[in-house]
Parts: sequence; structure tokens; C-alpha cells
Amino acid sequence: MYQAPRGTQDILPEDIPYFLHVEATARRLAALFGYREVRTPTFEDSGLFRKGTGETTDIVEKEMYSFTDKGKSDITLRPEATPSIMRAYLQHGLHSRPQPQRLFQLLNCFRYDRPQAGRWREFRQLDIEAIGEEDAAVDAELITLFWHFCGALGLNELSLQLNSIGDPVCRPDYLEALRSHYSSHQEELCGDCRRRLAANPLRLLDCKVPTCQPIADAAPAFIDHLCDDCRSHFELLLTLLKAEGITPSINPRLVRGLDYYTRTVFELYPPKVGQQAALGGGGRYDGLAEILGGRHTPGVGFAAGIERLVLNLKAQDIEVPPMSEALAFVAHVGDAPEAAAAANEFTRHLRARGVAALRAVGQRSIRARLRHADAADVRWTVFIGDEEIRSGTVSLRDMTQPEPLDLPVGEAIERIVNGAWERNGV
Ligand code: HAM
Repeated sequence: MYQAPRGTQDILPEDIPYFLHVEATARRLAALFGYREVRTPTFEDSGLFRKGTGETTDIVEKEMYSFTDKGKSDITLRPEATPSIMRAYLQHGLHSRPQPQRLFQLLNCFRYDRPQAGRWREFRQLDIEAIGEEDAAVDAELITLFWHFCGALGLNELSLQLNSIGDPVCRPDYLEALRSHYSSHQEELCGDCRRRLAANPLRLLDCKVPTCQPIADAAPAFIDHLCDDCRSHFELLLTLLKAEGITPSINPRLVRGLDYYTRTVFELYPPKVGQQAALGGGGRYDGLAEILGGRHTPGVGFAAGIERLVLNLKAQDIEVPPMSEALAFVAHVGDAPEAAAAANEFTRHLRARGVAALRAVGQRSIRARLRHADAADVRWTVFIGDEEIRSGTVSLRDMTQPEPLDLPVGEAIERIVNGAWERNGV
């Protein structure tokens, strides 16, 4: 029998309320901060991610789902949203609208990663971007939005890790200092670090191999090497976050795994920090538009992992609004076509009055019908058999009452409709 591919999951009805709640809260908070929804394609030209996400990232080196389609185009299932949203911004000339363009997207992403708790090959993100403005006020706004989004979900006691990784003015000097630090420890480094030292030394700070930890901890910190512009940008961000009541931990080893970042980088962690536990992360990417062939356009954004948010909601026993389930269960008894037709008509009346109704189908015993009604957690059951047809009644059971009642059809419908209204607080 086929199984869902490794690293993917089926989200069954009982888990849907968690996802809907996270997505509805995301849309509410995004709107509260003036962000508008976009939807970009699930697949793009592979070059967009190779260039945008970056050749030396884990994503491009080993995690992309790429293929050649029947028209011989080199296609990749999106591993993230940022290059796509920037492409859409450039393609549609959004620079001619008021800046920054505040955009968000709820999307599924694909990364050929090693599956483990909170790490999937297909996963969902809330991605939020502000493109077209370099003011640190936008960085502060996005971090504040992320913070309030988690708070609105009931996820509190978060830890915000923050760092600045400079710009093309100060980065060469810092990379030189970093290379010189690491060169004196070359023998002790893991294979990945040795390989990356020449191409992308920043990533060495991110290494999780135990023997590399003391070397990374002793490395020079970027915030001590920032140029004046980057320093004042970072200081303004700290001041603005303080005014929002958000206290970050400055983490000089936070560099993030994507190549496009400049200046601000951040990640948000729930109280129990595990290796894979970041709820989300982001930062500024002032060079990305040019990498993609557009004019210089600053930008900043973040993405939160929806599955990770759901995992944390469950771990913290946070209740989410239930789905509205069927209120009435309507069954015919016996195999007379008149009973089935009357049950159909009764169901039709309920639905026409806005009451969600579950129509029992097939031939089952009354016991089996009752078990079904119980599992569906309905408020009313309606049974219609030969006897009810003869007397023009139905057998109506209000599940909060001990006994069923025989009522004329019209009266039974009114009872259910009125009860449904009361239940919905109208
Ligand atoms: P990222 O750090 O690669 O950033 O992903 C953001 C979040 O997506 C992670 O913190 C995590 O919650 C979730 N995530 C990533 N990979 C997986 C996975 N395999 N399974 C489950 N969840 C996962 C980005 O994607 C950037 N585009 C964020 C950004 C937006 N930067 C600027 N703007």
C-alpha cells in the first residue's frame, strides 16, 4: 500500500482547526499592520533560488526539488518565498507604488531535508516582507508583528535572538578578521567548515558540530566591526524594539542559513529551546533585488513555520476554536423508499435554514446509527421510519435530554432551528 512520501504528512480533520487558527491569526495580524496578501507560483525557474537563496546555502547545495519539465525548463519547487516575492515585486514594477510594499504570503515549501520533529520535506510558512525601504523602523515593525502574532496565538515567553551582519562596506574587513581567526584553528575544524572557510566563512559561526563550538564562540563578533551606517541602523533598531517592550538577546553567532542577508538578522524561539526549534526567522536583504537583475531595492522580512507553531500550541495545551460541526443527524429506518425520501426532505429543510446536517446513508442498524451520531457529536438525532411516515412525525432526540420525542415534521424543524440559533448566540 502506498504511504505519504517521507517527510510529508496528511493533516486529518482533527488537526485542521490548529492550522486554520494559525492562518486566521496570521491574516488578522498582517492586516493589523497593513500587510496585504500575495500568492506566487509553487514552482519557479531554478535560477531564481540558485541566485536568490544562494549557491553556498544548504538549501541550494542539497535540498532543492528540481527537475526539467516537458518543455525542457529547469524548474524548482519553492524552498522559501523571499526570492519569489522579490521577483514578483520587480516583475510587476511595484516600486512605482508607495514604499515599502508590505506583503505577506501563506505557502507550502519544499526542502529535501532530513525529516525529524518539526522538520518536514513539505511544510508551510507564513512569510512577511516589506520591500522598498531601508529605515530600521521597518525591521522593528516586522519583529514587533512577529512577536504579537505569536502572542495572539498564546505563545509567550519567547526569546528573540538578534544580530547584525553588516553590508558590503563593512563585510570584507569582518570576513578577513573571521578567516584569520579560523585559519589558526584549521586543523580542528570539521569538514564542512574547512570547505566553507574560503567560500562563505560567515556560515562557520552557524556550525553545530561540537568540536567547532569553542572556535566559533571565540570568533570576532560582527557587531564590533560594523561601519558607521550599519552601527546606527542597528542602534536605532534596538531603541525602537525597546519602545515596543521587546528585549532581544544579541547573538553574535546568529548568521542564518541564507546568502541574501545584510544588516539585521533575527530568530524567534519558544521557551524550550531545541536545535530545530526556531518558530521562525528573517532579516534584511538589501542586495537581493540586484542579485536578481533588478535595481537596488532594500527589503526586510521573516518567515514562521506553521507546523512548528502548531507543535508549540499542542505542547502548551493551548485551545483553538473548534470547527463548526454538523448539528443534526438525520437517518431513515428500514428500507422503504418513502422513509429515505422523507429523511432527504427533512435534511434539505434544515440546510435551507442554515443548520448543518449529516444525512446517514446506506443500510445500517439503529445501534450503528446511534454510534455514528455519537461519534459525530451532534446535538440532535432525527429518525424516520414507516410509523413516522404514517403519522407525519419524526422521532427527534435532543442529546441533552434523556428521551426522544415524536413530533410533527414542522415542529421538529422549528425546534432544531431555534436551538441552533440559541447555540450560536444569535
Ligand atoms: P528559514 O529560516 O529558512 O527562512 O525558514 C523560516 C522558518 O520556516 C523556520 O524558522 C522554520 O520555522 C520553518 N522551516 C524551515 N524549514 C523547515 C522544515 N524543513 N520543516 C518545517 N519547518 C521549516 C526563510 O525561509 C526565509 N525566507 C525567511 C525570510 C523572509 N527572510 C526574509 N524574509
